[in-house]
Amino acid sequence: MRPSERLERIPPYVFAQLERKIAEKRAAGVDVISLGIGDPDRPTSPLIVEAMQEAVSEPETHKYPTNRGREDFRGAVRDFYERRFDVRVDPDSEIIPALGAKEAIFNLNLAFLDPGDYALAADPGYPVYTAGPWLAGAEPALMALEPERGFTPDLEAIDAQVRARAKLMYLCYPNNPTGAVAPEGFFARVVEFAREHEILVVHDNAYSEITFDGYRAPSFLATPGAKDVGVEVFSLSKGYNMTGWRCAVVVGNAQALRTYWQLKTNIDSGVFEAVQLAAVAALSPDADAEVASMNELYRRRRDAVCAALRRIGVEVRPPRGTIYVWAPVPKGFASSAEYCEHVLERTGVVLTPGAAYGPAGEGWFRISLTTPDDRLLEAVQRLGALKG
Ligand SMILES: Cc1ncc(COP(=O)(O)O)c(C=O)c1O
Repeated sequence: MRPSERLERIPPYVFAQLERKIAEKRAAGVDVISLGIGDPDRPTSPLIVEAMQEAVSEPETHKYPTNRGREDFRGAVRDFYERRFDVRVDPDSEIIPALGAKEAIFNLNLAFLDPGDYALAADPGYPVYTAGPWLAGAEPALMALEPERGFTPDLEAIDAQVRARAKLMYLCYPNNPTGAVAPEGFFARVVEFAREHEILVVHDNAYSEITFDGYRAPSFLATPGAKDVGVEVFSLSKGYNMTGWRCAVVVGNAQALRTYWQLKTNIDSGVFEAVQLAAVAALSPDADAEVASMNELYRRRRDAVCAALRRIGVEVRPPRGTIYVWAPVPKGFASSAEYCEHVLERTGVVLTPGAAYGPAGEGWFRISLTTPDDRLLEAVQRLGALKG
């Protein structure tokens, strides 16, 4: 049976390929350590698990949820945005729950794009920024994140024809895969650009809670005018070790959210109410200490990885956010894929080639910090011993 042409345009999902390669190596008896996928290794906090246990024993949570979300859940998101980001949002019109950021990002394409439209997509970027527009029958237009601009795109360089047909723009800070944080003034320039060209900004806020060295990531919505031109997708996956729970929120422009909600009523039936109640616990100040201790754990791992990379001559700048270290491929390798193959062959350590996140990721590789300490240390030792 032939897949649709839309689906055939999508390259295979990067981690599906990686998983195949890892399985082959393991079958051959290699002790593989994967620093590939960014899935937190630590369990969800007992505070959240206990809230879930209590919620799931209540029969009222067993029914179809609504796509609007529970009132107490939206209230918790409002309080969190105010407490954490100093951003005020109306829980009735400016918050919609999502089945993870991936669902929201994908469905926003279906909600806003027609054939011939463009979505401006950060390159390198989360693969759904390009697969989403394709699957919606539209096109992604890549915006290269430039290292010399702190891994932000040059908005002025976006082609006039592309600007005219662009309806969406995907950005993400703290950034996957580069670990960059938004430079001062960048979000304000984005708001201005989006206003001028009538583009809906989608700020993918998957990593704001994972930051180091005293840095606190802002919400895009804290920028004056941001709510007029954009929405933010805030995910509980990474900051609260909840990747399997499928819980995020889309926050911001009320008109955009009405459209997203209208689409979703035709596609899914919302987030399990017990998960919404567990998320209420996650977003409460009671969970702050747990988040801080996770950040300390990731900081230690980040420092160990950066030190090992420096030992083998890789010049790396420690990221101030996310669970990733983004580093340049050493000289002598034709591509990031070639380097990652080389490392896997020589050490059994899996790295992700930067090109998997878009053409501007070529020349770089990504290390995820979500491997348990003992295995990460072992991987770091193997990398540190790598020569040439
Ligand atoms: C930048 C970015 N956005 C979104 C997601 C997906 O998050 P969720 O688990 O909420 O679907 C990820 C996961 O890796 C990510 O890195």
